[in-house]
Amino acid sequence: MRNFFSKPIVPWVLVGIIVVLSGVLIGTLLFVKNQPPQVRGVPQLAALAPMEPDSAKWGVNFPNQYSTLEKTKDNKVDTTYGGSSKFSWLQRNPRLLILFAGMAFSKEYNEDRGHANALQDVREIKRISETSPATCYSCKSANNPGLWTKMGMAAYDATKFSDLGKEISESIGCANCHDAQTMKLIVTNPALDEALKAQGKDWTKFSRQEMRSVVCANCHVEYYFAPDKNGAKNYLTFPWSKGTNIDQIEAYYQENGFEDWKYPDAGTSMIKMQHPEYELFTSNSTHYKAGVACADCHMPYTRDGAAKYSNHDVKSPLLNAEVACGACHKDVSYVTARVAEIQKQVATTRDSSEMALVDAINAIKGAAANPKADPTLLKDARTLHRRAQMRWDFVAAENSTGFHNPEEALRILASAIDLARQAQLKAMQAVATGN
Ligand code: HEC
Ligand code: HEC
Ligand code: HEC
Ligand code: HEC
Repeated sequence: MRNFFSKPIVPWVLVGIIVVLSGVLIGTLLFVKNQPPQVRGVPQLAALAPMEPDSAKWGVNFPNQYSTLEKTKDNKVDTTYGGSSKFSWLQRNPRLLILFAGMAFSKEYNEDRGHANALQDVREIKRISETSPATCYSCKSANNPGLWTKMGMAAYDATKFSDLGKEISESIGCANCHDAQTMKLIVTNPALDEALKAQGKDWTKFSRQEMRSVVCANCHVEYYFAPDKNGAKNYLTFPWSKGTNIDQIEAYYQENGFEDWKYPDAGTSMIKMQHPEYELFTSNSTHYKAGVACADCHMPYTRDGAAKYSNHDVKSPLLNAEVACGACHKDVSYVTARVAEIQKQVATTRDSSEMALVDAINAIKGAAANPKADPTLLKDARTLHRRAQMRWDFVAAENSTGFHNPEEALRILASAIDLARQAQLKAMQAVATGN
């Protein structure tokens, strides 16, 4: 028998091995060459200028967050009480024309839309004219953090709307909520920074979960333009130094005597409330006490293959309830049915408070037109009207129709009805006593 390794065979075996090894080497080289560039750990990010106003530039690094933010431009679907179309509240509820008589909200008042439309909407609204203060831009643009840093907020607020408009090109964007270098959530509005400091709070020490709500408080809050502060006639201020619930906010306005407008013919010194979502939600709501944040419902985590990101398509969670509520509630249809119940109850009670206010207004107008009416009782009636309408408006201007804090919303509306009826009675007494 021939030995396998006997001389004539060995060279062929060597040639074979060399051919196979060469093949493997070429194959390996080709395979390596055709691999995509290596992405390991943190990918190389495009550098961003501090407070970069253009969200598209941030979008290069974070395409999911950018593309979902862009979706807010085209949202149009409405829910029973909210949603994203621009329907007119004055048409839907003409009683508002009476309640806002003599002030800008009786000119035009529309349902809120997605973040990407904020700049267009503020420029189109009839409430604002070229001579309005630039302060009206404060919650509408990603250019603001840069402008506030460059100019200071007092100079910004002292500018005219039309003049500052030239500096503003972007709607709400990444720079309103994030630090461009660290991507951390930050307080960008100096008015929020000052309001937190006035309460002795340091937001840089807040937990991440707290910031997932506080970042919305840059804009979704009650504010006013302080008539003469730090050299500006319209200095953006949150009335929070005594606390953020309605009674504390009222105490603040009572102390400084501020008025947004004088109610025509009734003569009441009025306060207009602006979208106090943060204040209502944080006034001990069930969800707030349980540690839930605005972003949990309005920016739920979403999967894109292996990646998980916060959905930046901020809108009514009822349009996305499986994801928005389903992360914590197994029975999503039960909790959304609860929302419908709560909102219906709040809307009905809100209607009752509006009817009580209209009655109070008519009674006060009557007393004010009567020269013999008792001035002290008339003054009391006006104070009660101011207090009642501020409470109704706190709930009415808040955009969740009570859902963010059902117990508190109903408590506030109950006291609005009570105060309005007291106002009506006082005005009637003013007439009866004087005549
Ligand atoms: C537990 C879930 C939840 C949390 C937490 C929450 N919201 Fe809401 N929010 C809702 C629901 C439900 C509605 C009602 C939507 C509707 O009527 O279509 C709503 C409505 C709104 C609206 C109006 C939406 C529209 O369609 O017009 C705004 C604005 C809003 N929330 C902001 C906030 C802010 C700011 C916070 C934190 C301070 C917050 N929400 C916390 C569930 C939540
Ligand atoms: C820079 C200011 C700003 C910040 C910060 C901000 N919002 Fe808004 N938000 C607005 C404005 C202004 C609108 C209304 C835009 C319009 O009507 O054109 C709005 C609209 C909304 C709406 C209604 C969208 C719709 O389609 O009906 C929701 C819901 C909302 N915001 C939730 C939030 C939540 C939650 C946060 C925090 C994660 C937040 N916002 C942070 C200014 C802001
Ligand atoms: C209205 C405020 C707001 C705006 C505007 C905003 N973000 Fe966010 N962003 C958040 C919140 C809230 C979170 C959740 C943060 C957390 O959980 O710590 C978040 C999370 C993120 C994260 C962390 C990963 C994730 O998805 O949870 C990235 C990255 C990010 N945002 C990028 C962007 C980019 C890019 C833009 C602009 C295209 C942008 N964000 C605009 C509020 C905002
Ligand atoms: C991050 C978790 C979380 C998310 C998201 C969340 N919830 Fe809740 N929810 C809770 C917790 C915790 C409670 C407290 C009561 C409990 O233990 O069930 C609660 C309670 C409730 C209650 C009962 C409140 C009461 O006072 O009895 C309703 C109704 C409700 N949630 C609706 C919703 C709806 C609608 C959504 C989506 C828009 C939602 N929740 C999203 C955690 C969450």
